[in-house]
Amino acid sequence: MGGVGGEAPFTVTDKLTGEITAVNWKAPAINTIYYRFDESEVRFILNYGRPFSPMSPWGLVGGGPMNSQQIDNVLEYLKSIQLPRDNCGAGEVEAFSFYGQELCQSGSVPENIASDIAASIDGAIASGEAASVGEAVFNLELGSGAYSCARCHTQGWSYGNPGQTGQGAYGWNLTGGATNSHFNNEADMVAFLKNGSEFGKVYGNQGQGSGRMPGFGAMLTDEQIEAVVEYVRSL
Ligand code: HEC
Repeated sequence: MGGVGGEAPFTVTDKLTGEITAVNWKAPAINTIYYRFDESEVRFILNYGRPFSPMSPWGLVGGGPMNSQQIDNVLEYLKSIQLPRDNCGAGEVEAFSFYGQELCQSGSVPENIASDIAASIDGAIASGEAASVGEAVFNLELGSGAYSCARCHTQGWSYGNPGQTGQGAYGWNLTGGATNSHFNNEADMVAFLKNGSEFGKVYGNQGQGSGRMPGFGAMLTDEQIEAVVEYVRSL
């Protein structure tokens, strides 16, 4: 269901007490990684890893064991395992093909994933876990959080011990209204969520992206993105 997410053993150190706890870390599904990041962003993740998570740096530049040729091979391998997209643009398929696996860059997640996402949202609302579509999207468990916000924006979410929702972890603190003032209006934030951030590029009215905020436009529907924006603005 929802692509192959996984779990990785890891230890978390409490900043105040120094206490070390063994946890299982939810590793997001990578067969949709090119749906949310472009190649240079995936290269950055492989080279430098994700600090404070079980994803260690793999590139020599990040202190890991692989040279750039080896990293390129992994990037190509990852392309080969991407779920083929639905709704490709005309003439776009060849641009991104690998070993006969035809992929495009603008299409959406395949129908079965889209319906898994919709079903997870409905399920979270029916069970009372979420009070709105936006809240359900924010915390989406599917694919070990591959389509969620909480895995980056809620401390402890990835190892089953979430703190205050959206108070910031690898991704920024979204609570208290500061984030709202970083965008001109709701539509501006919707556009940012669809495309994600790009290294060095301006976003909103005073942000500069790092490329680490994924784009959700190929994974979630417009309605789901609008709902999550409404939810974020209420945090
Ligand atoms: C892979 C980690 C990751 C995920 C998943 C993620 N974000 Fe982010 N987000 C970031 C990072 C990192 C930034 C900071 C901007 C940058 O570095 O480009 C950010 C920035 C933002 C900002 C702008 C904050 C500001 O005040 O400037 C908003 C709003 C936001 N994210 C909302 C979301 C929502 C909503 C989702 C889910 C649909 C989400 N994010 C998923 C990592 C993530």
